[in-house]
Amino acid sequence: MHTLSDIAALRAALDTPRRQGRRIALVPTMGNLHAGHLALVEAARQRAELVVATIFVNPMQFGPGEDLDAYPRTLADDQAGLAGAGCDLLFTPDTTTLYPRGLETHTRIRVPQVSEGLCGGSRPGHFDGVATVVSILFNLVQPDVACFGEKDYQQLAVIRRLVSDLHLPIEIVGVPIVRADDGLALSSRNGYLSAEQRAQAPGLYRTLCELRDALLAGEPRAAAIDSALLRLADRGFTPDYLEVRAPDLSPLGPDSREAVILAAAQLGPARLIDNLTLRLR
Ligand code: PAJ
Repeated sequence: MHTLSDIAALRAALDTPRRQGRRIALVPTMGNLHAGHLALVEAARQRAELVVATIFVNPMQFGPGEDLDAYPRTLADDQAGLAGAGCDLLFTPDTTTLYPRGLETHTRIRVPQVSEGLCGGSRPGHFDGVATVVSILFNLVQPDVACFGEKDYQQLAVIRRLVSDLHLPIEIVGVPIVRADDGLALSSRNGYLSAEQRAQAPGLYRTLCELRDALLAGEPRAAAIDSALLRLADRGFTPDYLEVRAPDLSPLGPDSREAVILAAAQLGPARLIDNLTLRLR
């Protein structure tokens, strides 16, 4: 696996495979990779002949007071994991490479509606930063297919909308959430938790499962959500949101067959997110 940091080298490395008609997959990440990220690489490997991963801690998607500076940087371990999972090329640009004129004056991409509410409500501008950097990476790599995790459910919905609205010829693949044995969705931010908080953390997924079961048992939605919020607080979380939406994130209608439960909650230093889809009867 080659690691490249500049745009000219990336373009040169992709030139021949592209002219040979090889199918190219892209897996964008911010590094500090775990088995969830590597599942994306494996999904990419199955769908393309050349797998490109990127590691870039994108300052445009972090708000003031968020964990940009603290975000873990573990390049050597990441390279080993990526190579083992079948990645061919790793692109690790720095901030001035992607945003040469600075962040403030850089062109931004905003995806309306689907970016609003949920994480977009608590992290203003976050999805503009995500949509902008992903657009830049799509333009640089020009992949045939790109893989994103269902763990960041709203992010995946934003990317699907971006690709549709900009008519980009890129297949977007959503990869199921990879969880620890106790149910906690793997996340780089889990590393911020103390041992005690780490033991509490699966309470988020447990609460989503209980809410799912209550909804399937026919409990009225508002009451079921209220008791799930109380349970989250009992389990040591400060809930940010807990919502039930249609799979495309529109409001759940009376005829909806499927739904997704989405939650974000603070646990000590970490803001954790999770989601669960369910089939309604
Ligand atoms: P990052 O948080 O590093 O995540 C990179 C990709 O890994 C995302 O598509 C995310 O959904 C996926 N992922 C993370 N944890 C996962 C898990 N437990 N199971 C399955 N997939 C998981 O998301 C970002 O980076 C950034 O916003 C990015 C898209 C790279 C733009 O900067």
